[in-house]
Amino acid sequence: PAALTACAGDGGTVGPGTLTSAARLPEPYTLPLPIPVPARPLRSGPDGDHYDMTIKESTAEILPGYSTRIWGYDGTFPGTYLEARSGTPLIVRQTNLLPVPVATHLHGGIAPPSQDGFPTDLLYPRGLAHLATGHAGHGAHGGHAVMHDPHAQVSIHHRTYAFPMRQRAATLWYHDHRMDFTGAQVWKGLAGLCVVRDDEDDALPLPRGDRDIPLLMCDRAFDADGQLAYPAIDPTLLGAPGMAESIMGGAQGDVILVNGAPWPYLEVDAARYRLRLVNGSNARRYELRLDGPADSEFTQIGGDGGLLPAPVRHATLRISPAERFDVVVDFSRYPAGSTATLVNLASTGGAGQVMRFHITRRATDDSAIPDRLSDIPELTPGGAHRQLVFSRNGSQWQINGKPFNPAVPHLRPAFGTTEHWTVLSVERHPFHLHGAFFQVLGRDSAGPGPYDAGWKDTVELAPGAEIHLAVRFDAYRGRYLAHCHNLEHEDMAMMATLQVG
Ligand code: C2O
Ligand code: CU
Repeated sequence: PAALTACAGDGGTVGPGTLTSAARLPEPYTLPLPIPVPARPLRSGPDGDHYDMTIKESTAEILPGYSTRIWGYDGTFPGTYLEARSGTPLIVRQTNLLPVPVATHLHGGIAPPSQDGFPTDLLYPRGLAHLATGHAGHGAHGGHAVMHDPHAQVSIHHRTYAFPMRQRAATLWYHDHRMDFTGAQVWKGLAGLCVVRDDEDDALPLPRGDRDIPLLMCDRAFDADGQLAYPAIDPTLLGAPGMAESIMGGAQGDVILVNGAPWPYLEVDAARYRLRLVNGSNARRYELRLDGPADSEFTQIGGDGGLLPAPVRHATLRISPAERFDVVVDFSRYPAGSTATLVNLASTGGAGQVMRFHITRRATDDSAIPDRLSDIPELTPGGAHRQLVFSRNGSQWQINGKPFNPAVPHLRPAFGTTEHWTVLSVERHPFHLHGAFFQVLGRDSAGPGPYDAGWKDTVELAPGAEIHLAVRFDAYRGRYLAHCHNLEHEDMAMMATLQVG
Protein backbone atom coordinates (compact mmCIF):
# COMPACT_ATOMS: atom_id res chain seq x y z
CA PRO A 1 0.00 0.00 0.00
CA ALA A 2 1.21 3.47 -0.89
CA ALA A 3 0.93 4.72 2.67
CA LEU A 4 3.42 2.15 3.83
CA THR A 5 6.05 3.02 1.29
CA ALA A 6 5.71 6.78 1.60
CA CYS A 7 8.37 6.88 4.26
CA ALA A 8 10.94 5.14 2.19
CA GLY A 9 10.91 6.84 -1.14
CA ASP A 10 11.14 10.27 0.43
CA GLY A 11 13.42 11.86 -2.14
CA GLY A 12 17.14 11.62 -1.89
CA THR A 13 19.87 10.56 -4.19
CA VAL A 14 21.45 7.23 -4.78
CA GLY A 15 25.08 6.74 -5.54
CA PRO A 16 27.71 4.23 -4.68
CA GLY A 17 29.13 4.58 -1.19
CA THR A 18 28.33 7.76 0.66
CA LEU A 19 25.38 9.95 -0.32
CA THR A 20 26.47 13.50 -1.05
CA SER A 21 24.52 16.33 0.53
CA ALA A 22 23.23 19.11 -1.71
CA ALA A 23 22.38 21.49 1.15
CA ARG A 24 24.72 24.20 2.43
CA LEU A 25 26.66 22.54 5.25
CA PRO A 26 28.13 24.35 8.24
CA GLU A 27 31.85 24.60 8.84
CA PRO A 28 32.79 21.65 11.06
CA TYR A 29 33.19 22.39 14.77
CA THR A 30 31.19 25.62 14.77
CA LEU A 31 28.01 24.39 16.47
CA PRO A 32 27.82 23.43 20.15
CA LEU A 33 27.28 19.80 21.15
CA PRO A 34 23.75 19.26 22.48
CA ILE A 35 24.05 17.62 25.91
CA PRO A 36 21.17 15.20 26.44
CA VAL A 37 19.10 15.98 29.50
CA PRO A 38 17.30 12.98 31.01
CA ALA A 39 13.53 13.16 30.82
CA ARG A 40 11.65 13.32 34.11
CA PRO A 41 9.28 10.43 34.68
CA LEU A 42 5.61 11.30 34.60
CA ARG A 43 5.41 9.43 37.86
CA SER A 44 7.46 6.91 39.79
CA GLY A 45 5.78 4.21 41.78
CA PRO A 46 6.50 0.77 43.17
CA ASP A 47 5.82 -0.60 39.69
CA GLY A 48 8.46 1.58 38.06
CA ASP A 49 9.23 4.87 36.35
CA HIS A 50 6.51 5.89 33.91
CA TYR A 51 6.99 7.92 30.76
CA ASP A 52 4.66 9.04 28.01
CA MET A 53 6.15 9.26 24.57
CA THR A 54 4.53 10.58 21.43
CA ILE A 55 6.06 9.43 18.18
CA LYS A 56 5.49 12.14 15.63
CA GLU A 57 6.73 14.17 12.75
CA SER A 58 8.35 17.45 13.61
CA THR A 59 11.00 19.82 12.32
CA ALA A 60 14.49 20.47 13.57
CA GLU A 61 17.13 23.00 12.62
CA ILE A 62 19.92 20.47 12.15
CA LEU A 63 21.75 22.50 9.51
CA PRO A 64 21.78 26.24 10.21
CA GLY A 65 19.10 27.99 8.17
CA TYR A 66 17.13 24.86 7.24
CA SER A 67 14.06 23.36 8.78
CA THR A 68 14.38 19.58 8.43
CA ARG A 69 11.38 17.29 8.75
CA ILE A 70 12.15 14.50 11.15
CA TRP A 71 10.31 11.62 12.77
CA GLY A 72 11.05 11.54 16.44
CA TYR A 73 10.28 9.98 19.77
CA ASP A 74 8.54 13.02 21.29
CA GLY A 75 9.27 14.81 18.04
CA THR A 76 12.98 15.23 18.66
CA PHE A 77 16.08 13.79 17.02
CA PRO A 78 17.64 12.08 18.86
CA GLY A 79 14.54 11.08 20.80
CA THR A 80 13.89 11.66 24.48
CA TYR A 81 16.89 10.73 26.62
CA LEU A 82 15.82 8.14 29.17
CA GLU A 83 17.74 7.39 32.33
CA ALA A 84 16.84 4.15 34.05
CA ARG A 85 17.76 2.64 37.37
CA SER A 86 18.76 -0.99 37.54
CA GLY A 87 15.97 -2.82 39.39
CA THR A 88 13.33 -0.20 38.61
CA PRO A 89 11.07 -1.09 35.69
CA LEU A 90 10.96 1.44 32.89
CA ILE A 91 7.44 1.87 31.61
CA VAL A 92 6.93 3.79 28.41
CA ARG A 93 3.51 4.48 26.98
CA GLN A 94 3.80 5.30 23.32
CA THR A 95 1.37 7.04 21.03
CA ASN A 96 2.02 6.81 17.31
CA LEU A 97 1.07 9.92 15.35
CA LEU A 98 3.24 9.08 12.34
CA PRO A 99 1.71 7.99 9.02
CA VAL A 100 3.42 4.58 9.38
CA PRO A 101 3.61 1.73 11.89
CA VAL A 102 6.60 1.48 14.21
CA ALA A 103 8.09 -1.17 16.50
CA THR A 104 10.38 0.10 19.24
CA HIS A 105 13.31 -1.98 20.41
CA LEU A 106 15.35 -1.10 23.48
CA HIS A 107 18.77 -2.12 22.20
CA GLY A 108 20.70 -3.79 25.03
CA GLY A 109 17.59 -4.08 27.13
CA ILE A 110 16.83 -7.57 28.39
CA ALA A 111 13.06 -7.67 28.11
CA PRO A 112 10.49 -10.42 27.73
CA PRO A 113 9.75 -11.16 24.06
CA SER A 114 6.44 -9.29 24.20
CA GLN A 115 8.32 -6.08 25.10
CA ASP A 116 11.28 -6.54 22.80
CA GLY A 117 10.13 -4.72 19.68
CA PHE A 118 9.94 -7.71 17.40
CA PRO A 119 9.74 -6.38 13.80
CA THR A 120 6.14 -7.50 13.35
CA ASP A 121 4.90 -6.30 16.75
CA LEU A 122 3.75 -3.09 15.17
CA LEU A 123 2.17 -0.03 16.68
CA TYR A 124 -0.08 1.29 13.94
CA PRO A 125 -1.30 4.85 13.78
CA ARG A 126 -5.06 5.31 13.98
CA GLY A 127 -5.31 6.09 10.29
CA LEU A 128 -3.90 2.70 9.32
CA ALA A 129 -5.95 0.66 11.76
CA HIS A 130 -7.55 -1.15 8.81
CA LEU A 131 -4.13 -2.57 7.88
CA ALA A 132 -3.40 -3.88 11.33
CA THR A 133 -4.44 -7.40 10.60
CA GLY A 134 -1.20 -9.12 11.42
CA HIS A 135 0.44 -8.66 8.05
CA ALA A 136 4.10 -8.35 8.69
CA GLY A 137 5.14 -6.23 5.79
CA HIS A 138 5.68 -6.53 2.13
CA GLY A 139 9.35 -6.96 1.60
CA ALA A 140 10.29 -3.68 -0.06
CA HIS A 141 14.01 -4.29 0.14
CA GLY A 142 14.55 -7.96 0.07
CA GLY A 143 11.77 -8.77 -2.27
CA HIS A 144 10.71 -11.56 0.06
CA ALA A 145 7.14 -12.57 -0.14
CA VAL A 146 4.29 -11.10 1.84
CA MET A 147 4.36 -12.86 5.14
CA HIS A 148 1.66 -13.44 7.60
CA ASP A 149 2.88 -13.65 11.15
CA PRO A 150 0.30 -15.33 13.34
CA HIS A 151 2.21 -14.35 16.48
CA ALA A 152 2.43 -10.63 15.73
CA GLN A 153 1.16 -8.45 18.55
CA VAL A 154 -0.38 -5.52 16.83
CA SER A 155 -1.49 -2.35 18.61
CA ILE A 156 -3.28 0.70 17.35
CA HIS A 157 -2.49 4.27 18.37
CA HIS A 158 -1.12 3.45 21.86
CA ARG A 159 0.92 0.75 23.42
CA THR A 160 2.85 0.48 26.65
CA TYR A 161 6.25 -1.11 26.91
CA ALA A 162 7.38 -2.37 30.31
CA PHE A 163 11.12 -3.00 30.53
CA PRO A 164 11.99 -4.87 33.74
CA MET A 165 15.52 -3.39 33.94
CA ARG A 166 16.80 -6.37 35.86
CA GLN A 167 20.20 -5.66 34.38
CA ARG A 168 23.39 -3.84 35.25
CA ALA A 169 24.36 -0.27 34.45
CA ALA A 170 25.07 0.20 30.76
CA THR A 171 24.61 2.58 27.86
CA LEU A 172 21.63 1.46 25.81
CA TRP A 173 19.71 3.04 23.01
CA TYR A 174 16.31 2.53 21.49
CA HIS A 175 15.17 2.70 17.91
CA ASP A 176 12.52 1.65 15.47
CA HIS A 177 12.64 -1.98 14.31
CA ARG A 178 9.77 -2.19 11.83
CA MET A 179 10.21 -5.06 9.42
CA ASP A 180 11.60 -3.92 6.05
CA PHE A 181 11.61 -0.23 6.99
CA THR A 182 13.99 0.10 9.94
CA GLY A 183 16.71 1.79 7.89
CA ALA A 184 14.43 4.44 6.44
CA GLN A 185 12.62 5.13 9.71
CA VAL A 186 15.72 5.37 11.88
CA TRP A 187 17.30 7.63 9.26
CA LYS A 188 14.34 9.98 9.70
CA GLY A 189 15.13 10.22 13.40
CA LEU A 190 13.59 7.29 15.29
CA ALA A 191 16.42 6.65 17.76
CA GLY A 192 17.25 7.78 21.28
CA LEU A 193 19.54 7.08 24.21
CA CYS A 194 18.84 5.20 27.42
CA VAL A 195 21.47 5.05 30.14
CA VAL A 196 21.02 2.53 32.94
CA ARG A 197 22.64 3.34 36.28
CA ASP A 198 23.27 1.11 39.30
CA ASP A 199 24.99 1.16 42.68
CA GLU A 200 28.09 -0.69 41.52
CA ASP A 201 28.82 1.83 38.79
CA ASP A 202 27.88 4.80 41.01
CA ALA A 203 30.33 3.65 43.68
CA LEU A 204 33.34 3.90 41.36
CA PRO A 205 35.31 7.16 41.32
CA LEU A 206 34.74 7.60 37.57
CA PRO A 207 33.96 11.04 36.11
CA ARG A 208 30.35 11.97 36.80
CA GLY A 209 27.82 14.75 36.51
CA ASP A 210 28.60 17.09 33.63
CA ARG A 211 31.76 15.09 32.97
CA ASP A 212 29.70 12.02 32.02
CA ILE A 213 28.34 12.60 28.53
CA PRO A 214 26.64 10.27 26.05
CA LEU A 215 27.62 10.82 22.42
CA LEU A 216 25.22 9.36 19.87
CA MET A 217 26.97 9.44 16.51
CA CYS A 218 25.20 8.98 13.21
CA ASP A 219 25.67 10.02 9.63
CA ARG A 220 23.07 11.60 7.40
CA ALA A 221 22.83 13.30 4.01
CA PHE A 222 20.67 16.32 3.20
CA ASP A 223 19.04 17.29 -0.09
CA ALA A 224 19.06 20.82 -1.51
CA ASP A 225 16.09 21.76 0.70
CA GLY A 226 17.86 20.54 3.81
CA GLN A 227 15.67 17.44 4.07
CA LEU A 228 17.08 14.07 5.05
CA ALA A 229 17.99 12.24 1.86
CA TYR A 230 17.54 8.49 1.90
CA PRO A 231 18.10 6.20 -1.05
CA ALA A 232 14.71 5.47 -2.57
CA ILE A 233 13.63 1.97 -1.80
CA ASP A 234 11.53 1.10 -4.73
CA PRO A 235 11.59 -2.63 -5.39
CA THR A 236 11.11 -2.03 -9.09
CA LEU A 237 14.29 0.05 -9.10
CA LEU A 238 16.30 -2.64 -7.39
CA GLY A 239 16.65 -4.38 -10.73
CA ALA A 240 18.01 -1.26 -12.46
CA PRO A 241 21.71 -1.42 -13.27
CA GLY A 242 23.85 -0.03 -10.47
CA MET A 243 20.87 0.65 -8.26
CA ALA A 244 20.86 -2.53 -6.27
CA GLU A 245 24.61 -2.49 -5.80
CA SER A 246 24.67 1.03 -4.44
CA ILE A 247 22.24 0.24 -1.67
CA MET A 248 23.63 -3.19 -0.88
CA GLY A 249 26.28 -1.62 1.35
CA GLY A 250 23.76 0.36 3.35
CA ALA A 251 22.86 4.04 3.54
CA GLN A 252 25.73 6.33 4.48
CA GLY A 253 25.74 10.11 4.62
CA ASP A 254 28.50 12.69 4.39
CA VAL A 255 27.49 14.62 7.52
CA ILE A 256 28.32 13.28 10.97
CA LEU A 257 25.84 14.24 13.66
CA VAL A 258 26.66 13.91 17.34
CA ASN A 259 23.60 14.12 19.57
CA GLY A 260 21.85 15.49 16.50
CA ALA A 261 24.28 18.33 15.68
CA PRO A 262 26.61 18.33 12.66
CA TRP A 263 30.31 18.10 13.61
CA PRO A 264 29.80 19.88 16.94
CA TYR A 265 32.31 21.20 19.45
CA LEU A 266 32.33 20.89 23.22
CA GLU A 267 34.17 23.02 25.77
CA VAL A 268 35.78 20.82 28.40
CA ASP A 269 37.90 21.32 31.49
CA ALA A 270 41.42 19.91 31.46
CA ALA A 271 40.11 16.89 33.37
CA ARG A 272 38.86 13.34 32.89
CA TYR A 273 35.57 12.85 31.07
CA ARG A 274 33.47 9.76 30.67
CA LEU A 275 32.24 9.62 27.09
CA ARG A 276 29.57 7.06 26.24
CA LEU A 277 30.06 6.54 22.54
CA VAL A 278 27.13 5.05 20.69
CA ASN A 279 27.25 4.28 16.99
CA GLY A 280 23.69 5.04 15.93
CA SER A 281 24.52 5.03 12.22
CA ASN A 282 22.56 2.90 9.79
CA ALA A 283 25.59 1.38 8.13
CA ARG A 284 28.71 3.38 8.93
CA ARG A 285 31.55 2.06 11.02
CA TYR A 286 34.03 4.36 12.69
CA GLU A 287 37.64 4.21 13.67
CA LEU A 288 38.00 7.12 16.06
CA ARG A 289 41.20 8.93 16.89
CA LEU A 290 41.70 12.06 18.95
CA ASP A 291 43.97 14.45 17.06
CA GLY A 292 45.67 17.14 19.13
CA PRO A 293 48.78 18.04 21.09
CA ALA A 294 48.77 14.75 23.03
CA ASP A 295 48.71 11.12 21.93
CA SER A 296 45.29 9.74 21.12
CA GLU A 297 44.18 7.66 24.08
CA PHE A 298 40.84 6.25 25.12
CA THR A 299 40.55 4.22 28.30
CA GLN A 300 37.65 1.87 27.76
CA ILE A 301 35.79 1.14 30.97
CA GLY A 302 32.62 -0.35 29.55
CA GLY A 303 31.01 -1.88 26.50
CA ASP A 304 27.54 -2.80 25.30
CA GLY A 305 26.68 -4.62 28.51
CA GLY A 306 28.28 -2.30 31.07
CA LEU A 307 31.54 -2.21 32.99
CA LEU A 308 34.52 -4.28 31.85
CA PRO A 309 36.47 -6.28 34.45
CA ALA A 310 39.42 -3.93 33.97
CA PRO A 311 40.12 -0.86 31.85
CA VAL A 312 41.46 -1.37 28.31
CA ARG A 313 43.55 1.33 26.64
CA HIS A 314 43.10 2.07 22.95
CA ALA A 315 44.86 4.54 20.67
CA THR A 316 41.96 4.30 18.24
CA LEU A 317 38.46 2.94 18.68
CA ARG A 318 36.65 0.83 16.12
CA ILE A 319 32.91 1.03 16.52
CA SER A 320 30.56 -0.82 14.23
CA PRO A 321 26.88 0.13 13.95
CA ALA A 322 25.01 -0.20 17.28
CA GLU A 323 28.08 -0.90 19.41
CA ARG A 324 28.74 1.19 22.51
CA PHE A 325 32.10 2.09 23.98
CA ASP A 326 32.17 3.70 27.39
CA VAL A 327 35.53 5.47 27.61
CA VAL A 328 37.39 7.91 29.79
CA VAL A 329 39.41 10.61 28.04
CA ASP A 330 41.88 12.55 30.15
CA PHE A 331 41.89 16.09 28.82
CA SER A 332 44.37 17.14 31.52
CA ARG A 333 47.01 15.78 29.15
CA TYR A 334 46.22 18.75 26.87
CA PRO A 335 47.29 22.34 27.49
CA ALA A 336 44.49 24.77 28.36
CA GLY A 337 43.57 26.65 25.22
CA SER A 338 44.26 23.71 22.89
CA THR A 339 41.82 21.60 20.92
CA ALA A 340 41.48 17.88 20.34
CA THR A 341 39.55 16.71 17.31
CA LEU A 342 37.75 13.40 17.13
CA VAL A 343 38.29 12.11 13.62
CA ASN A 344 37.10 8.98 11.85
CA LEU A 345 39.94 7.15 10.15
CA ALA A 346 37.51 4.76 8.46
CA SER A 347 36.28 7.51 6.12
CA THR A 348 37.44 10.54 4.22
CA GLY A 349 35.69 13.84 3.58
CA GLY A 350 32.81 14.93 5.81
CA ALA A 351 32.40 11.48 7.31
CA GLY A 352 36.04 11.55 8.37
CA GLN A 353 35.30 14.35 10.84
CA VAL A 354 33.28 13.87 14.02
CA MET A 355 33.59 16.55 16.70
CA ARG A 356 36.09 18.80 18.50
CA PHE A 357 36.89 19.40 22.14
CA HIS A 358 38.09 22.83 23.30
CA ILE A 359 40.16 22.38 26.44
CA THR A 360 39.34 25.65 28.17
CA ARG A 361 40.94 25.68 31.62
CA ARG A 362 42.77 23.77 34.36
CA ALA A 363 40.32 22.34 36.84
CA THR A 364 40.26 20.15 39.91
CA ASP A 365 39.49 16.53 39.24
CA ASP A 366 38.91 13.95 41.94
CA SER A 367 37.97 11.20 39.52
CA ALA A 368 40.09 8.10 38.98
CA ILE A 369 40.02 4.95 36.89
CA PRO A 370 40.33 1.93 39.18
CA ASP A 371 42.44 -1.00 37.97
CA ARG A 372 39.55 -3.33 38.76
CA LEU A 373 36.14 -2.18 37.62
CA SER A 374 33.82 -5.12 38.04
CA ASP A 375 33.60 -8.88 38.34
CA ILE A 376 32.24 -10.59 35.29
CA PRO A 377 31.57 -14.32 35.30
CA GLU A 378 33.31 -16.00 32.40
CA LEU A 379 30.97 -18.02 30.23
CA THR A 380 32.20 -21.50 29.31
CA PRO A 381 30.17 -23.24 26.64
CA GLY A 382 28.72 -26.57 27.68
CA GLY A 383 25.64 -26.65 25.49
CA ALA A 384 24.99 -26.88 21.78
CA HIS A 385 27.38 -25.67 19.11
CA ARG A 386 25.62 -23.66 16.41
CA GLN A 387 26.84 -22.15 13.24
CA LEU A 388 25.46 -18.98 11.69
CA VAL A 389 26.62 -18.05 8.22
CA PHE A 390 26.11 -14.47 7.08
CA SER A 391 26.08 -14.29 3.31
CA ARG A 392 24.44 -12.80 0.28
CA ASN A 393 22.24 -14.11 -2.47
CA GLY A 394 21.69 -11.49 -5.15
CA SER A 395 19.86 -8.57 -3.59
CA GLN A 396 19.08 -10.50 -0.45
CA TRP A 397 21.21 -10.78 2.67
CA GLN A 398 20.82 -14.10 4.40
CA ILE A 399 21.64 -16.06 7.53
CA ASN A 400 22.30 -19.76 6.98
CA GLY A 401 21.03 -19.38 3.43
CA LYS A 402 17.61 -18.09 4.44
CA PRO A 403 15.98 -14.67 4.54
CA PHE A 404 14.13 -13.41 7.60
CA ASN A 405 10.88 -15.14 8.34
CA PRO A 406 9.08 -13.85 11.43
CA ALA A 407 6.72 -16.80 11.54
CA VAL A 408 9.21 -19.67 11.34
CA PRO A 409 12.12 -19.93 13.78
CA HIS A 410 15.53 -20.05 12.14
CA LEU A 411 17.22 -21.33 15.29
CA ARG A 412 16.03 -22.78 18.58
CA PRO A 413 18.61 -21.95 21.23
CA ALA A 414 18.28 -23.63 24.60
CA PHE A 415 17.37 -21.74 27.73
CA GLY A 416 19.79 -21.65 30.64
CA THR A 417 22.78 -23.35 29.02
CA THR A 418 25.84 -21.71 27.54
CA GLU A 419 26.08 -22.40 23.84
CA HIS A 420 29.00 -21.99 21.48
CA TRP A 421 28.04 -20.02 18.39
CA THR A 422 30.39 -19.79 15.45
CA VAL A 423 29.41 -16.90 13.23
CA LEU A 424 30.98 -16.94 9.78
CA SER A 425 30.75 -14.10 7.43
CA VAL A 426 31.60 -13.45 3.82
CA GLU A 427 31.32 -9.64 3.99
CA ARG A 428 31.62 -7.27 6.92
CA HIS A 429 28.53 -7.18 9.17
CA PRO A 430 27.69 -6.00 12.67
CA PHE A 431 26.14 -9.05 14.37
CA HIS A 432 23.50 -8.29 16.99
CA LEU A 433 21.62 -10.54 19.38
CA HIS A 434 18.40 -9.79 21.27
CA GLY A 435 17.45 -11.28 24.62
CA ALA A 436 20.94 -11.94 25.98
CA PHE A 437 24.41 -10.51 26.20
CA PHE A 438 27.23 -12.73 24.99
CA GLN A 439 31.00 -12.99 25.33
CA VAL A 440 33.53 -13.26 22.55
CA LEU A 441 35.62 -16.43 22.91
CA GLY A 442 37.87 -15.75 19.95
CA ARG A 443 38.28 -14.83 16.30
CA ASP A 444 39.40 -17.53 13.87
CA SER A 445 41.98 -19.48 15.85
CA ALA A 446 43.09 -16.47 17.93
CA GLY A 447 41.66 -14.96 21.08
CA PRO A 448 39.17 -12.09 21.27
CA GLY A 449 40.09 -8.86 19.48
CA PRO A 450 40.92 -5.58 21.24
CA TYR A 451 37.31 -4.36 20.99
CA ASP A 452 35.67 -7.58 22.17
CA ALA A 453 36.00 -7.22 25.94
CA GLY A 454 33.12 -7.59 28.40
CA TRP A 455 29.47 -8.31 27.78
CA LYS A 456 28.53 -7.62 24.18
CA ASP A 457 25.28 -7.50 22.24
CA THR A 458 26.81 -6.34 18.97
CA VAL A 459 30.10 -7.33 17.44
CA GLU A 460 31.76 -6.71 14.12
CA LEU A 461 32.14 -9.73 11.86
CA ALA A 462 35.22 -9.38 9.69
CA PRO A 463 35.01 -10.42 6.03
CA GLY A 464 36.01 -14.00 5.45
CA ALA A 465 36.50 -14.69 9.14
CA GLU A 466 34.72 -16.53 11.89
CA ILE A 467 34.02 -15.41 15.41
CA HIS A 468 33.29 -17.64 18.39
CA LEU A 469 30.72 -16.54 20.92
CA ALA A 470 29.54 -17.86 24.24
CA VAL A 471 25.79 -17.29 24.30
CA ARG A 472 23.53 -17.91 27.26
CA PHE A 473 19.85 -17.02 27.40
CA ASP A 474 18.85 -17.04 31.02
CA ALA A 475 16.34 -14.24 31.40
CA TYR A 476 13.30 -15.13 29.28
CA ARG A 477 12.10 -17.81 26.92
CA GLY A 478 10.38 -17.00 23.67
CA ARG A 479 10.85 -15.26 20.38
CA TYR A 480 13.92 -13.12 19.82
CA LEU A 481 16.18 -12.14 16.97
CA ALA A 482 19.73 -12.36 15.76
CA HIS A 483 20.52 -10.02 12.91
CA CYS A 484 22.87 -7.78 11.05
CA HIS A 485 22.76 -4.23 12.44
CA ASN A 486 23.58 -2.66 9.13
CA LEU A 487 19.99 -1.43 8.95
CA GLU A 488 19.74 -1.79 5.19
CA HIS A 489 21.03 -5.36 5.40
CA GLU A 490 18.49 -5.94 8.14
CA ASP A 491 15.74 -4.58 5.88
CA MET A 492 17.07 -6.79 3.12
CA ALA A 493 16.19 -9.79 5.29
CA MET A 494 19.43 -10.41 7.20
CA MET A 495 17.64 -11.45 10.38
CA ALA A 496 16.99 -14.78 12.03
CA THR A 497 14.03 -15.51 14.25
CA LEU A 498 15.09 -17.32 17.42
CA GLN A 499 12.81 -19.42 19.53
CA VAL A 500 14.51 -19.64 22.91
CA GLY A 501 13.73 -22.54 25.22
CU1 C2O B 1 19.49 -2.21 17.64
CU2 C2O B 1 17.54 -5.66 16.65
O1 C2O B 1 18.48 -3.90 17.10
CU1 CU C 1 25.23 -6.73 7.27
